[in-house]
This record gives sequence, C-alpha cells and structure tokens, in this order.
Amino acid sequence: MRVTMIGAGYVGLVSGACFADFGHEVVCVDKDERKIRKLEAGVMPIYEPGLESLVAENVKAGRLSFSLDLAASAPSADAVFIAVGTPSRRGDGFADLSYVYQAAEEIAQVIDGYTVVVTKSTVPVGTGAEVEEIIRKTNSAADFSVVSNPEFLREGAAINDFKRPDRVVVGAEDERAQKVMRELYRPLFINETPIVFTNRATSELIKYAANAFLATKITFINEMSDLCEKVGANVQEVARGIGLDGRIGAKFLHAGPGYGGSCFPKDTLALVRTAQTHDAPTKIVEAVVDINDARKKSMADRVIAACGGSLEGKTIAALGLTFKPNTDDMRDSPSLDIVPALQKAGAKVRAFDPAGMDEAAELLSDIEYTEGPYQTLEGADAVVIITEWDEFRALDVDRMKSLLKAPIMVDLRNIYDPQEMVEKGVEYHSIGRPA
Ligand code: UDX
Repeated sequence: MRVTMIGAGYVGLVSGACFADFGHEVVCVDKDERKIRKLEAGVMPIYEPGLESLVAENVKAGRLSFSLDLAASAPSADAVFIAVGTPSRRGDGFADLSYVYQAAEEIAQVIDGYTVVVTKSTVPVGTGAEVEEIIRKTNSAADFSVVSNPEFLREGAAINDFKRPDRVVVGAEDERAQKVMRELYRPLFINETPIVFTNRATSELIKYAANAFLATKITFINEMSDLCEKVGANVQEVARGIGLDGRIGAKFLHAGPGYGGSCFPKDTLALVRTAQTHDAPTKIVEAVVDINDARKKSMADRVIAACGGSLEGKTIAALGLTFKPNTDDMRDSPSLDIVPALQKAGAKVRAFDPAGMDEAAELLSDIEYTEGPYQTLEGADAVVIITEWDEFRALDVDRMKSLLKAPIMVDLRNIYDPQEMVEKGVEYHSIGRPA
C-alpha cells in the first residue's frame, strides 16, 4: 500500500520506517528542510537503536523516501498519517493541536481518490471529528475517512514496540477505513497481534488512559518506596511481591526519581484538563501529576542530605541526564530539576551521559561535561546516578572510590546492591531500600 507520513519526528520516522519494512511504499514528509536533507543523507535526527540501519535498508529497497512536498505523494496515497507534535500548550496544559489541524487542511487540499487520514499523534478525544470537519470544510468533494491509530512506542525500544506490539488500536467509523487499516497491519495479523477495532473517540481515549495508568503505577511504587524508607522495608521486594500477582503485573514498578519523557508528563496533564472540561475530573491522575512534579523537585535533597546537609563548595558527579536510557531525549527529565537544585545549593556539577549531552547543553547551564563515567568522578565529593544507562551498572567500585573525595553514592535508579556497596565501603543511598 502507499503511505504518506506527515511529520518525520520520533513517531513518524519510526512508524514510516517500520511500515516500509512491512513492504509498504512510504514517503515521510516534513517541513523542516534540514531534517529532510539529513534523512536523505542517511543521518538520523534522533537517537533510536536500530533506526539508522532500518531506514537505510528500506531507502535502498526503494520503499522509503523523504520529501518536503506533501502534494507530491499524498494524492496517490491509500493512507495519510498525521504524526506531528502535540506539545503541552503553554500556560494551561491542554494539548496544542495547531500542527494537527494545519496538517488536516493541507491534506484536504491535495488528496485525490479515497484516502484514509490517520491520526497517530496523541490527540484528545474529539480531535478525529475535528480533523474530519476541517477536511470537509476545506474540500467538500474529498472522499476520505478519518481514523485514530495511537502509537505505544517507548523510546529506545520503538522498533520492537512497532513490530511486536502488545496490541494495535484502531478507531474507525466505517468498514472501508477498517479494511485499509487491516491491510496496513497485515504482517502483524500473521503474528496474531490483537487488533482492537473500536470507534474513534474510544481509540483516542485508550491512548491517554494507557499512559495515565502507567504513570499512576510508577507513582504508586514511588510513594511505596518513601514508606519503605520509613519502615525499613525494601521496595524492590514489595514490587516483586505484588507484581507476581497476574492482576497487577511486574512491569512499571521500578521506583525512581519520577517519570519524565515526551509522553507521560504531557499526556497526564492533557487528560486532566480534558476531564475537567467535561466535568468528569480524573482525581487520581491529578494527584499523580502533582506527586510526580514534587518528587522530581525533591530528589536533589537526597544528595544534599547524603553530603551532610550542605553542598557549598562541593562538586557532584552526575551520571545520566536523559529521562531514561537509550535515548538522547531530555524532555521533562528528572535531571532538569535535580541539576539546577544541586547548583542552587552551592555545588559544581560535573556530568556524563552517553547520548544526551548535546541536548542537555541547551537546557542546563554551568555543567562541566566529561568523556566518561570515571572522568566525571575525579575529585568529586559524591556521585548521583540519575539515569540507568547500562554502562553505569557495573562500575569498578574500587576505582570509583579512589577517584571520589568521599565514597558517597546516591543511586536514584537502584542499580546497585545495597549490601554489596556497604561491604565495599561505599556510603550508599538508594530509593526505598535499607542499606
Ligand atoms: C511511554 C510509554 O511507555 C509508551 O507506550 C508511549 O507511547 C510513550 O510514553 P517512553 O516515554 O518512551 O514511553 O518511556 P517509558 O519507558 O514508558 O518511561 C517513561 C518514564 O517513566 C521514564 O522517565 C522512566 O524512567 C520512568 N519509569 C518507567 C519509572 O520510573 N519506573 C518504571 O517502572 C518505568
């Protein structure tokens, strides 16, 4: 089938490359000329394991191309996907839909013959109906259906998530559109991936409900970890003990510094606002948003406490800056709260992140960046692990101790064993676990 993907950002690029790999003919369209030129030259605008080779293979096979011009590919497309950004609107937290609506208008001007217009961007309930309205108003002769098909890709694992998803959700109002969507995802049918066909509004809500539920699960275990610290319990064992209950499940029960990233913070807030607008407030999600914000802000206090109550004149080594490993994404990363708070408390911050330092340099100031974890530790008064990159999981503890002024480690991701660290002479502080 022929697919046009509007938006060569994270979702558009991964989805486009994967659809091409399924055998479809895909054109990714973006207005950012630099991005398109880079993609044409084989340079990825984002860090995502496996993406570069997937793109290269499919470009070589002639199934994937990039363009600035929507009119060149959309008229012959069976499906046009809208995969543009829906950032939080400044000031009120509602999703900003201006890029989605603009894409809808542009699609209306160029489609020719029956076309399924698919919203892949995360959009509030009712957006599909609005997109349909815009297209109809702009081009009354257009023959089209508007479908919702949310993505559930995790950064760092996006290709696998696309090709081996737990489920695909399709919100379509008519049989014709369903048929096109079924054909697009046919390779997954063969793998017996459950495909949830539903109406558009339900599909739109599923996406927000899924992200809000996962954010709630994380926040729940984070609160449990605080309680564990007070009562001498171990949050990892609590998570295992409850996670083995099939009704609860073990995933997304890792206590940490609070969730960040491009989806959970923005989508929880957008759901809260939509629910308030419809007079059906989601009080649980409202609490989750507040608790998570406060949690991220409070993490620096743990470092200050570990250093005896003051950071004046001290140097802190920060390992990891991105909101999670295997990405260069800094959006809403806990480090954006932690680093400035450490600096405000008087510390000099030295940091290393395997992929996020360029991004970080735009968002944080006065950090001394280093070339590796050990360089970061040299002469520092304490080390804080903010992101659980694999290369931080097996540091040579003796070497670490010889480099640090004092053997103080604050592990916000629980990647070391408390007892082992104490035995090796480290003043070890983690989340929700007795030392
Ligand atoms: C998320 C959803 O998982 C994905 O389905 C959706 O499409 C987009 O949002 P992503 O933001 O890439 O994906 O990352 P994810 O792995 O879900 O982690 C989000 C945040 O939660 C990270 O900051 C991570 O560190 C944190 N997290 C996750 C925890 O603190 N504990 C956990 O147990 C899991």
